[in-house]
Amino acid sequence: MNMEIVFATNNLHKLEEVSKMLLGKFRILGLKELGISEEIPEDHDTLEENASQKAWYIYRKTGRSCFADDTGLEVDSLGGAPGVYSARYSRMGKILFPELSPAEGNIKKLLLEMKGADNRRARFRTVISLILEGVEHRFVGICEGQISEEPAGSEGFGYDPVFIPDSYSLSFAEMDLAEKNRISHRAKAVQALVQFLNRM
Ligand code: IMP
Repeated sequence: MNMEIVFATNNLHKLEEVSKMLLGKFRILGLKELGISEEIPEDHDTLEENASQKAWYIYRKTGRSCFADDTGLEVDSLGGAPGVYSARYSRMGKILFPELSPAEGNIKKLLLEMKGADNRRARFRTVISLILEGVEHRFVGICEGQISEEPAGSEGFGYDPVFIPDSYSLSFAEMDLAEKNRISHRAKAVQALVQFLNRM
């Protein structure tokens, strides 16, 4: 019988992507299937702690093996910001662009903070925390790149229009989604998780 593992996410797209990668060996359950609709707490200051907090929360609630992920964009010239606060960057402190969507506001704030910066090195980092029979395992996926001067492209989401991965001249938002999903931080972290589970 396939082993069941819970993915502590309400994002159906992520759920489908990861289920496909596990090649039928494991059955991945989303929170919806378990009747869990509440917000999962993630109130720490690092990706590692947040991924861990979400995974343990669901493990304690359900008693089932589970995993959770957390991602951030780390910009060197900003000391690693927005990092763990990537999703709510433009809503922190003084709200600069209340008229814009969160993603547009985040990009606008990032480009403003980086105005004139020569060092535009950045990376997306995804951390996955897996709790298997009460033991925690961690997987990390990193995608290195540069922050462009101007947004370009309309694919993807979040900071994609201003992130140019190394060895490419296009932003994530200008790339074919399948190509992005092949080289992305999240794909690398999920591949590490999948390799671990498939070895079992
Ligand atoms: P999450 O942990 O996957 O929800 O990601 C947190 C935030 O990081 C998102 O709200 C986005 O702003 C940003 N982010 C995560 N992954 C990506 C990506 O692949 N492209 C662009 N932005 C991303």
